[in-house]
Amino acid sequence: MSQRRILVTAALPYANGHIHLGHLVEYIQTDIWVRFQKLRGHKCVFVCADDTHGTAIMIRARQEGRTEEEVIADMREAHIRDFAGFQVAFDNYGSTNSPENRQLCHEIWGKIRASGLVKESDVEQLYDPEAGTFLADRFVRGTCPKCSAENQPGDNCSKCGATYSPAELVNPKSTLSGATPEARKAPHLFIELEKLHGFLDQWTQSGDHLQSEVANYLKGHFLGDANSPEPKVLRDWDISRPAPYFGFEIPDCPGHYWYVWFDAPIGYMASTLDWCQRNGENFDSWWRPTGPQPAEIHHFIGKDITYFHTLFWPGMLHTAGFSLPEKVHIHGFLTVGGEKMSKSLGTFIMASTYLKHLDPTYLRYYYASKLGPRLDDIDMNLDELVAKVNSDLVGKVVNIASRSAKFVAETGLSTTYPDDGGLFAAAAARADTIAELYERCDYNNAMREVMLLADAANKYVDEKAPWTMRKDPSKAAEVRDVCTVALNLFRQLMIYLAPVLPRLAEQTGELLNSPIQSWDAVQQPLMGSSVSAFKHMLQRITPEQVQAMTEESKVPDETAAPAAPQWNDGPDALAAEPLTAECTIDDFVKVDLRVARIISAEDVPEANKLLKLKLSLGGDSQRQVFAGIKAAYKPEDLIGKLVIVVANLKPRQMKFGLSEGMICASGPGGKDVFLLAPDSGAVPGQRVH
Ligand code: 2FM
Ligand code: ZN
Repeated sequence: MSQRRILVTAALPYANGHIHLGHLVEYIQTDIWVRFQKLRGHKCVFVCADDTHGTAIMIRARQEGRTEEEVIADMREAHIRDFAGFQVAFDNYGSTNSPENRQLCHEIWGKIRASGLVKESDVEQLYDPEAGTFLADRFVRGTCPKCSAENQPGDNCSKCGATYSPAELVNPKSTLSGATPEARKAPHLFIELEKLHGFLDQWTQSGDHLQSEVANYLKGHFLGDANSPEPKVLRDWDISRPAPYFGFEIPDCPGHYWYVWFDAPIGYMASTLDWCQRNGENFDSWWRPTGPQPAEIHHFIGKDITYFHTLFWPGMLHTAGFSLPEKVHIHGFLTVGGEKMSKSLGTFIMASTYLKHLDPTYLRYYYASKLGPRLDDIDMNLDELVAKVNSDLVGKVVNIASRSAKFVAETGLSTTYPDDGGLFAAAAARADTIAELYERCDYNNAMREVMLLADAANKYVDEKAPWTMRKDPSKAAEVRDVCTVALNLFRQLMIYLAPVLPRLAEQTGELLNSPIQSWDAVQQPLMGSSVSAFKHMLQRITPEQVQAMTEESKVPDETAAPAAPQWNDGPDALAAEPLTAECTIDDFVKVDLRVARIISAEDVPEANKLLKLKLSLGGDSQRQVFAGIKAAYKPEDLIGKLVIVVANLKPRQMKFGLSEGMICASGPGGKDVFLLAPDSGAVPGQRVH
């Protein structure tokens, strides 16, 4: 088999949010594929990056009183930590806000301009005169023009489902400032995608690059064919945004910036360039269709970003003379218990929360056992996760080693491979089939194949029962033979599972003193080698661990009626209190403590002690809280800080406004008040125990 050169990407996560289990479907799927290719001996490079530009980052930075670069830097650290926690091993993790990306954007833009694909037209958009910015749809709310439901988003109504443009909303308000937005015109640059219709039709419909349902969807919705009642025309793509916008300024259009979706996929190339510079590699050999062996480019994405990756992106690459993707692998969404992930049910689980409670191996195996080559959504059932991990990984796979390794720790493996009734040969003969399943991303069937082999190996161990046999000293050689067979069958399973379970594969290498480094090693049994002392490999999951994780993920129910507030703006606010009546543990657990970030802080001039704080509890969840800390903190020093908030305190109407929580502090009062600070890796919204 000749060595392939494969460049793999997973979608670049936005730098304005943390990684959750929904994201991880893709990163785990891709990581498995990459590890599989590497194990097969191919030269495979896995690049990713943070997607940093756009309005959302700009607004977040503004609200938090930080620069965009500071927001990006913090999130990058958190993303890298979360991915490493799940053993997602990128060869390079870049950023779209990098010099490499700027350079490549300039080059590609130059080629697109030169091809005559760019035109200019005026666009009318809502503008927030107070915030001084045009408003993306989600930053406008108002009354639905169809059903009159109030406080609806700028693009569709959550009550009646109507879709509309933000300009059609009745009584629109900017969510940034509360101001009434006004319609303003500004020139925008458009790429005339229709001019690439013929090329896109041929590329998407060739049968080689896209799953068939994706090719059919594109044909039916955008490209059309001879059977379409009317010819389909691809819409011009609005590629620029007027200032202020956080991104790269367009060199031949000052005051205008590339829309985030222009520079985001170029980030794949920029991350590759970064990797090439660090590793003495030639960028052109990865991204240009030249040289003796051009690389295969494989993108892994979710179905929501199909249009960008199958029409715009190939169009850009084609125009600029770069290699086109060999394949775009598209997966479905994650649902939990058949529903969208839900914050109130605790099924919107952040990567960092999962890692506090459960081993990443569990999720990697569970996702592998659910992932197929199509676009179907993946439904996570937490009871099924527990059952699968305990029965397959602990009960079938690890169990083979735990029932045999200790009996050969002193003797090592037999020096010739014993008669096993053909089990080793039968498992070795499945190598091509299982490899084909991995190659097609049909991990669910690959796992099924491996578990059938595990069943056969367990049957052998059950029948031979080396733990009984070893009681008879005359059977010592037989015990060694049986354990030699069992451990070799176990090793075959672990080679097949190594792309999914890298940590267990490593432990297997340590146990048998032979690291798992190649797929072909399934063909050759180990003989005469030493065996290390058996160390526990994988714990069973308990339902209690899963429950603790979902509990921690629950966002407080806004309608709950918790205890009355315990502080005020009076002279004793935050001062040490005499001990009062006992609080039971049941009382105490009702208090929902959360990490929050202070996104604005201002003095309340009419109050002696109060500052007015706006807190972010992650996502869109925000609270206004009045805190008696005026003597201890300057408002400007608080912005961006993490604090701990009692999130389920009943909101209280104060003279100065509604207070929707209480931040935790200690100290005697006055100047000596100290806000309790969570550790720097804490994530807003995370529960504190
Ligand atoms: O949908 C998203 O999360 C985008 N940040 C994905 C970008 S992928 C690529 F094109 F950069
Ligand atoms: Zn409506």
